[in-house]
Amino acid sequence: EGNDGLSVGSLLKDTGLVTYDAGFVNTASCKSDITYIDGDAGILRYRGYPIDQLAEHSTFTEVAYLLIYGELPAPEELSRFEDNIRRHTMLHEDLRAFFNGFPRDAHPMPVLSSAVSALGTFYQDSLDPFDQEQVEISTVRLLAKVPTIAAMAHKKSIGQPYMYPDNSLSFVENFMRMTFGYPVEPYEVDPTVAKALDLLFILHADHEQNCSTSTVRLVGSAHANLFNSVSAGIHALSGPLHGGANQAVLEMLGKLHASGDDPKAFMEKVKNKEDGVRLMGFGHRVYKNYDPRAAIVKKYADEVLEKLGQNDPLLDIAKGLEEIALADDYFVERKLYPNVDFYTGLIYKAMGFESKMFTVLFAIGRLPGWIAQWREMMNDPETKIGRPRQIYTGSPERSYPGV
Ligand code: ACO
Repeated sequence: EGNDGLSVGSLLKDTGLVTYDAGFVNTASCKSDITYIDGDAGILRYRGYPIDQLAEHSTFTEVAYLLIYGELPAPEELSRFEDNIRRHTMLHEDLRAFFNGFPRDAHPMPVLSSAVSALGTFYQDSLDPFDQEQVEISTVRLLAKVPTIAAMAHKKSIGQPYMYPDNSLSFVENFMRMTFGYPVEPYEVDPTVAKALDLLFILHADHEQNCSTSTVRLVGSAHANLFNSVSAGIHALSGPLHGGANQAVLEMLGKLHASGDDPKAFMEKVKNKEDGVRLMGFGHRVYKNYDPRAAIVKKYADEVLEKLGQNDPLLDIAKGLEEIALADDYFVERKLYPNVDFYTGLIYKAMGFESKMFTVLFAIGRLPGWIAQWREMMNDPETKIGRPRQIYTGSPERSYPGV
């Protein structure tokens, strides 16, 4: 019995044995066939295929199909899937009006999650999580409309007119045109940027039970519809310890560059945990080795920046910080390596995206994973509503004053 009057017996009285696992470090919440990670060896596979092979040979829409349906599509299956997505890229005109209500300087992540939530009010014919036809149509609607919403959130934030989709273009090209194009001018897609963006989307497409995916599953486990579940996942992703880290990394590098501070002094601050400062883009709950996605992005960052004719001093600062970290006991002992977010922001910046859009790009990439995981859960007869227990640490029973 503790001095607060609570005994272990009273804590467990109604539950039997409860496992306390803060942050679910060691708790599997589900069984899944979708993504395999070996954090010690730095291995990531979607449906059995190694991430480096998919990054080199596949496309984002093909990977989306693979994650959602379990197998690589035959050519005619892929073109049917892509055509279907193309047919649904438009937003209802009334949904466009939502964007006018947000302040001009609104961050595009909450704009995206609000608009995704609102999709459910426009498409009430696809909300039943157990009707396969409705799930198919909401899957396609989400894949098709999220890039349109994301591009509109960007246009809103810079005060430019919204662009309608051009469905003669590919998934990535269409998104780029809606983001960077103007209504009266023809837009030419830069193939280097399109290829790089497609690759980055592939690398983000799924990552088993990370914070946002677990959120999508938890919300969905209450039989919430796909739009609402994905909207909740977008909110989870916005946090700087999760998807928001890509924006935070660039801000960290920008500050270092602008101040001219010595990176070594900054790293001392990180190690001393001064003001809670962390090396953003470093460390991972599962990878205790180099994040295989970061390795691909790092290699690609040099290539893309060179092809785009850019020489970004922030890339040198990032490489310098990595070099210091990999030779420092603090990082070595804790097995802290660059994660996928460490180098992605530099590529996004070189492509012309503002840092506020970085996490939105992550959300577009992660969308097929959220959808695949939600669908898998809904079809799993072992699924139960997610409802963790707690260890109560509050006051023992006491009387209301005067009673
Ligand atoms: N910089 C400095 N120290 C760190 C960092 C970091 N980036 N990450 C972890 N540590 C330290 C912690 O202070 C802790 O030290 P201690 O043992 O002395 O207390 C130790 O390493 C373990 O860290 P935890 O926070 O317990 O690890 P956890 O698995 O809970 O957190 C996380 C993982 C959130 C990713 C963490 O490494 C972090 O905050 N990284 C920076 C943010 C980031 O890049 N997030 C993106 C993750 S990838 C993604 O979402 C796509």
